[in-house]
Amino acid sequence: MPFAHITGWGMYVPEPILTNDDLSKMVDTNDEWIRERTGIRERHIAGEDDFPSTLGIEAALKALDVANLAPTELDLIICATSSPEYVFPATACLIQDGIGATKAGAFDLQAACTGFIFAVNMAAQAIRSGSIKNALVVGTETLSRIVNWKDRNTCILFGDGAGAFVLQASDLPGGVISAVMHSDGSGADSLSVPAGGTRMPASEATIQMDGKEVFRFATRVMGRAVIEALESAKMKIEDVQCIVPHQANYRIIETAARYLKLPLDKFVINVDRYGNTSTASIPIATVEGLEKGRIKPGDKVVFVGFGGGLTWGAMVVEWTGPIPTQKHYIHSQQYRLFARLRSFLRRIWRHVEGFFSRREL
Ligand code: ACO
Repeated sequence: MPFAHITGWGMYVPEPILTNDDLSKMVDTNDEWIRERTGIRERHIAGEDDFPSTLGIEAALKALDVANLAPTELDLIICATSSPEYVFPATACLIQDGIGATKAGAFDLQAACTGFIFAVNMAAQAIRSGSIKNALVVGTETLSRIVNWKDRNTCILFGDGAGAFVLQASDLPGGVISAVMHSDGSGADSLSVPAGGTRMPASEATIQMDGKEVFRFATRVMGRAVIEALESAKMKIEDVQCIVPHQANYRIIETAARYLKLPLDKFVINVDRYGNTSTASIPIATVEGLEKGRIKPGDKVVFVGFGGGLTWGAMVVEWTGPIPTQKHYIHSQQYRLFARLRSFLRRIWRHVEGFFSRREL
């Protein structure tokens, strides 16, 4: 059975930054309250031309560069997002077209902020089953478009951004070792975007949240999920070098650290600079953890997340990094141009085909 290694990673955030002081001019809040209750100082906010697909494409191309893999070699793309571009088509298909992943199947996975862990697990399972070799998992959000900017309970929490992992099959042991996935739909109304589906018109689509309820739920499940994933990997907490938690609130991470009897410096924390970027938070924190040398080849790393659904999950990974035997190096920018041209030509071809098939009917 092949192993599923994480061989590439990338992140991208839009440039504009919204600070707590900026927010205090929009709603009745202040920097001190936000920092004390959440740990957040600032967040990045999508510009007019930023969408989940465009942010996701940037992160994906960076991850492919790290893995030294061409988009045309991808077999599967899973996009986890809580702010999809459309009801359909899937944001994953827009990313597939944008990077020119000509032979990849692409679909979205919806498990709110836990979505990235669920998606990496699905990709790893497909690799381990032998049915695919190379997968791309993207977590991407423009939550700022579905936040109610008049609601101080929610608008201070969220930020925009994207992160991506490349997963590849290899006979070398390591990579994704275990994962646990949980859901409890009885808590569906604690955290939701009730409109924009088939129940309520999209014009009313904003994030609704019972903050206290979600806080209680998160602190209850995070530590337990870590232990469960470690048990399934036949490991102990002492074997772990680094934990990358979903970045929702500094106090939630502190509580998980206390439960696990771990010092906070075992956790990668960057909620202060990005806020809660939902599905993008774990890959963004991972990329920063790698850049700062917090995660090194051979380390045992645990990802843990929670979110709307309610959903929660954890994953144990033995970090390997890029597969050294990979052959060629092609810069992703070349693929971006190729992908644009291909997409343009395919659109024209579809019109030509349509014209001739109408004449035949
Ligand atoms: N600025 C100033 N005061 C505020 C603000 C604000 N932005 N927001 C709320 N308050 C006030 C409240 O009105 C309340 O005032 P009152 O006592 O006069 O009624 C007081 O501050 C305390 O409010 P609480 O809700 O009790 O504050 P709490 O300490 O619970 O913090 C928070 C609220 C930060 C939302 C916290 O509950 C939390 O982080 N919950 C988890 C949220 C979360 O993680 N969501 C994302 C999940 S992931 C996903 O799937 C998207």
